[in-house]
Amino acid sequence: MPDLSRLLRDARARLSGAGVPSPAADAAALAAHVLRTTPGDVTARAARGDGMGDEQAAAFEELLAQRAARVPLQHLTGRAAFRTVELQVGPGVFVPRPETEVVAGVAIDEASEAARRQAAPLVVDLCTGSGAVALAVAVEVPTARVAAVEVDPMAHAWAARNVAAIAPRVDLRLGDAVHAETGVLADLAGVVDVVVANPPYIPPGSRPVDPEVADHDPPLALYGGGDDGLAVPRGVVASAAGLLRPGGLLVMEHADGQGPGARALVGGSGWRDVRTVDDLTGRPRVLVARRQ
Ligand SMILES: C[S@@+](CC[C@H](N)C(=O)[O-])C[C@H]1O[C@@H](n2cnc3c(N)ncnc32)[C@H](O)[C@@H]1O
Repeated sequence: MPDLSRLLRDARARLSGAGVPSPAADAAALAAHVLRTTPGDVTARAARGDGMGDEQAAAFEELLAQRAARVPLQHLTGRAAFRTVELQVGPGVFVPRPETEVVAGVAIDEASEAARRQAAPLVVDLCTGSGAVALAVAVEVPTARVAAVEVDPMAHAWAARNVAAIAPRVDLRLGDAVHAETGVLADLAGVVDVVVANPPYIPPGSRPVDPEVADHDPPLALYGGGDDGLAVPRGVVASAAGLLRPGGLLVMEHADGQGPGARALVGGSGWRDVRTVDDLTGRPRVLVARRQ
């Protein structure tokens, strides 16, 4: 029976050699996936001198080969953690990122505050992908009503799976987040308390460096369109203007470096308290603006 600690040591070296940014954590996560346990338990078993069964070692080897080829860890485990929820993910849907947890947090704080004043605040997640933000809001603000919009049928199918598993009350719709106030969300025009979005925003020609992103996240989830990558975000802001009630809040993620461009989208009358919030690493990544 192969020795677990030696398998993990070899796996770390192999992933490190392939340029994987977090080889130790990924090796432990893949071993945990194969052994149907937690990474912490894998470490404990390795420290005890436990082995791994031959079949499990073969499965681990297969997963390592794919991770070394830079298939995203979350596609291999089929799971992505996001705040209080664990999402099912795979090919065809954007893997939720830690920085978006800050975006969701601003929306959740606002919805929690609204929930103290009114019965059931309404939150809309535009460009929902796996449903990460909408589902975190639904779980963390139990009295909130939550609607979510996704245009890509494949991503929408992943979101539908997650909604069914985590919070079936989320009202998931297939449609365009641009002009949502007259389209897919026309029935919610003018009555929404919080619009939150992590839209695509990468400018054309800026290919992401990491193969996990460039080769595995859907292009529709990455590139925002227009010269500056802000065509979809611009449409999201226009939708938010039509969806939010007076005093409602817009929270939208953008790229580092797009802060001034994003703030300009809410530069006209109709918005107040415009600010940019930093992500967990101190980079300006979130546009926040309140409807007049
Ligand atoms: C960057 S991903 C974010 C997904 C999810 N909100 C998250 O943070 O993990 C952007 C998502 O927006 C979707 N999308 C792109 N253009 C859209 C549009 N016009 N209307 C609705 N969804 C759109 C993409 O398919 C993708 O799922």
